[in-house]
Amino acid sequence: MVKPRSPRTHSFRFLATAGSALLIAALGLLAVRAAAGTAAGGVPLHELGAEHGLHIGAAANPALLEDNRDYRAILAEQYGSLTAENVMKWDTLQPERGVYDFSAADTLREFARTNDQRMRGHTLIWHNQNPEWLAEGDFGPQELRTIMREHIDTVAGEHFKGDIYAWDVINEPFRDSGGRLRPNLWLDTLGRSYIAEALKAAHAADPDARLYINEFGIEGRNAKSDAMYELASSLLDQGVPLHGIGVQSHMEVGGVPEDMTENLRRFAELGLEITITELDVSIEMPASGAELRTQAADYRSVVETCLDLGDSCAGVTVWGVGDADSWIPSWFPGRGAALPFDEDYAPKPAFGAMQEALGG
Ligand code: XIL
Repeated sequence: MVKPRSPRTHSFRFLATAGSALLIAALGLLAVRAAAGTAAGGVPLHELGAEHGLHIGAAANPALLEDNRDYRAILAEQYGSLTAENVMKWDTLQPERGVYDFSAADTLREFARTNDQRMRGHTLIWHNQNPEWLAEGDFGPQELRTIMREHIDTVAGEHFKGDIYAWDVINEPFRDSGGRLRPNLWLDTLGRSYIAEALKAAHAADPDARLYINEFGIEGRNAKSDAMYELASSLLDQGVPLHGIGVQSHMEVGGVPEDMTENLRRFAELGLEITITELDVSIEMPASGAELRTQAADYRSVVETCLDLGDSCAGVTVWGVGDADSWIPSWFPGRGAALPFDEDYAPKPAFGAMQEALGG
């Protein structure tokens, strides 16, 4: 379990009692049993993926694990890798300076253990979902560097070491579009070396974890993916521990770039692995049958891209379980229906397309 490193600088809150962890674990087991034969039909996605050496995963939210039986069953049955949709972001893990709250993340970890799932870590360094004390702290470079290292040490080292197979160490370092680094607290205070420093700190914290830079809008060849390529090349040249590129893949229906495989192959040729980290395909609501079929083709082609990359692609994670829990409607009003299961957690054509792409 977790030991406070220094009682003077850290106090830890453990809101999760052993009891609630057990309850979640038991619910997880029930979910597995209920799913035998699979509620969604066919061989589970994660088993199909494993035949190709791929981790097929989903973003997960511990609050829904407790409330929603269908959600729980699909997550346990279909997916072999979990990414915390929100609860491993900085505002949840270190809401006050030096005060860590791992309760929600631990609920997820328990569920993953019970169901024999792996976990991707999301995320250590980002410009969003930071606590106010950090975002508004106006720290100088030395202090911010210390804060960054302590967070990475505590989270990736002390708490999660050995439980996270891959970390999104850096999330969204580039501007929304174009090829320039995003001005944010880290870049503004530490300069571009914050990226290498965070990767080195994460490597020291958990030497076995695969370390990623995760980004959106780099699926096809464009100024942003070119800039990512330059950044990755230069980090590798400097011997910085970078192992993979997370390609978020938040798509609009019909919008999978034709050159996705070719674009990602150049990263593979640098010796990096690729993970599709946050796949969803949104549709202007209400979604028509034709759009759902196009969406299925989109899911199929993203999975095929991963397969085409061979050993260089580590897996595909979808960003949520069903349309009822997707982030899309609240972030992109008018759009939705982005996931392989619908509002009632029934499988959609996109689910079948993923199965088929994986040989199911
Ligand atoms: C999103 C979550 O899905 C939402 O629930 C939250 O309100 C905002 O963040 N890129 C990322 C993810 O790296 O962390 C984001 O997740 C989606 C975009």
